[in-house]
Amino acid sequence: MNQLIDKHNRVIDYIRIAVTDKCNLRCFYCMPNEGIDFVKQNKLMSYEELLRVVNIICAQGVSKLRITGGEPFLRKDLMYFLKKLKKINGLNKIAITTNGTQLLPYIDELLDLGIHKFNLSIDSIDKQRFLKITRRDYFEKVWNCFEELSKRKVDLKLNAVVIKDQNIEDLVPMVALTKERKIAVRFIEEMPFNGIGAHYQKLEWNYKKILQHLENHYGKVEKLKDEKNSTSLNYKIPGHLGSFGIIPAYSRTFCGTCNRIRLTPIGMIKSCLYDEGIFNIRDLIRAGATDSQILETIQSAIGQKYKDGFEAESKRIFSPLVNESMTTIGG
Ligand code: GTP
Ligand code: 5AD
Ligand code: SF4
Repeated sequence: MNQLIDKHNRVIDYIRIAVTDKCNLRCFYCMPNEGIDFVKQNKLMSYEELLRVVNIICAQGVSKLRITGGEPFLRKDLMYFLKKLKKINGLNKIAITTNGTQLLPYIDELLDLGIHKFNLSIDSIDKQRFLKITRRDYFEKVWNCFEELSKRKVDLKLNAVVIKDQNIEDLVPMVALTKERKIAVRFIEEMPFNGIGAHYQKLEWNYKKILQHLENHYGKVEKLKDEKNSTSLNYKIPGHLGSFGIIPAYSRTFCGTCNRIRLTPIGMIKSCLYDEGIFNIRDLIRAGATDSQILETIQSAIGQKYKDGFEAESKRIFSPLVNESMTTIGG
C-alpha cells in the first residue's frame, strides 16, 4: 500500500485545505480589528487545481480531508467542490471547520452528500461576549445553526478559543451543553496567529489551567481514551451524554502523533502549523508540472517535516515571530 511517511516515521494521511482567506467575522484571536488584505480570486488555488492535488495524495494513502478557511462557505460554489471530493477514491472522511454563519441553508445537502463532521467555532454562548470577541453581530445565526445541527445525526464539535478576560465565564456553561447533547465541546489554547503577534508574554490559560478551572466546578472529571491522532485531550462529566476536550494548540503536546499537512488558500504546503510554508504548489501546477513532479514535491515537503511545532517555529526565517492571521492558514 502507498503511504506518505515523514522523516520521524509518522504516516501522513490527513490534509487540511483552507479554501478561502475571507471571513465575515473579525475574531480577536485571529485578525486585527481592521481585518487583513484578502487575496485576489486568481491567487487562490482553483477547485480544479485542488482536486488534482487531492487525487494525487489520496492515491498515496491520504484518507481524511478537512475544509477550513477563513469561512469556507464564503468561497463560491463550495458545494460543487465537495461533490467532486466525495468521488475521490480513498478519501473516506471529509470534515468541515466553520464559523456557522453561512451553514444553515446547506445542512440538508451536506448530509445527503454524506458529509456530517462539523467543527463549529463558537467562543461564547453569551451574545455580548460573542460580539466582543468576534466584533460582528452574528450570535443568533451561529446559535441557530448549532441548534439545527444538534437535532441532526452529525458528529458535532464546538470550538472555543479560551481568551483571558473575555470568555472564561463560558467554560462551565459550555461544558453544561454536553449534559443533554451528544456533542464535544473543545477549549483551545490561544495561539499568536492573529495578524499582529502574541497578546501575552506568557500564555496564562494553558491546557492545565483550563482543566483545573473545570475541575474546580465539576469535581474530578472522567478522562476518555483519545483517538490516535487527536489534537484534544478528552474528558467527560459522569452522566453527561457528550464530552469535552482541551486542545493544547500552543503547548503543542500532540506533535508526536501528527498525521497532517496543510494547504493554504494560495497553495502553500505547510508541513506544520507553525512553519512558514514549504513551497507553493499552485505555482508549480501553473508552471506545467506533471502529476509525478507534484507528488515528488509533496513527498519532499513531508520528508522535511519538523519534529514538532517548536522546531518548526525555531526554523522560521522570513518572519521569525509567529504573527500571521489564522484566516490565511486555516488553523
Ligand atoms: P479533528 O481532530 O479532526 O476534529 O480536527 P481538529 O480539532 O484538529 O481541527 P479544528 O479545525 O477544529 O481545529 C481546532 C484547533 O486545533 C484550532 O485552533 C487549530 O488551529 C488547532 N490545530 C489543529 N491542528 C493542529 C496542529 O497540527 N497543531 C496545532 N498546534 N494546532 C492544531
Ligand atoms: N488560536 C487558537 N485557535 C484559533 N483559531 C483561529 N485563530 C486561533 C488562534 N489564534 C481557531 C478557530 C477555529 C479553528 C480552525 O482555529 O476558532 O475553530
Ligand atoms: Fe473568521 Fe475563523 Fe478567523 Fe474568526 S477565527 S475571524 S471565524 S477565520
